[in-house]
Amino acid sequence: MNYTENKCLISPHIDRIPRFSQPLKLGVLASGKGSNFKALVEASRNSYLDADISLLVVNNPECEAIRRAEELNIPCTCLDHRNFSSRELYEIELLKILKPFALEGLVMAGWMRIVTSTLIEEYPNRIINIHPSLLPSFKGAHSINQAIRAGVKITGCTVHLVQADIDSGPILIQASIPILETDTKKSLLARIQVEEHKILPLGVAIAGKYWRELRVE
Ligand code: GRF
Repeated sequence: MNYTENKCLISPHIDRIPRFSQPLKLGVLASGKGSNFKALVEASRNSYLDADISLLVVNNPECEAIRRAEELNIPCTCLDHRNFSSRELYEIELLKILKPFALEGLVMAGWMRIVTSTLIEEYPNRIINIHPSLLPSFKGAHSINQAIRAGVKITGCTVHLVQADIDSGPILIQASIPILETDTKKSLLARIQVEEHKILPLGVAIAGKYWRELRVE
């Protein structure tokens, strides 16, 4: 036994990803690089995740996710939050874009906007978020720096269902990642993202099983 090996751990352990004869119909929201969006689309295209990614919505016209959507041939709409005077008015417009797709779920894959009950109540327990910490530790926008500053030796990433409080809601799956003495925000983020790209499709499939089996409203 090597007691100092720096392994990542994913929990719950999943032998076989839940399968769906009718693919999960999903929309994705992103604000940044879109690497998690890409991981999700690739998982659906290589038959790992039974999902149909119907569209991407971004809030930032400069974000890299737009280019990813073009490359992946996924319809992408940019709804710039700067054109709206409140989060609620923004979400009313967002819902107008989403509704025609009759989505089963919405994945916030690096969506850097706080969401309100206007959106959440239209998709109760059907919005999934990915966050770069082991929730409930280090909520909010600066979780990686917070973890480094706190001196914790293990951090990670979490896929969870979205509820009104920021970065709260039932946890679907987590991955742990050791923090090395030499880590910077950049190096740690890079290792966290490797795990994010693994657990996001798994978390989506766990949520999908819950939606289909319980027929949640
Ligand atoms: C991820 O680290 C995610 O946890 C956080 O925002 C980041 C988005 O990265 N919510 P990307 O845009 O998917 O590359």
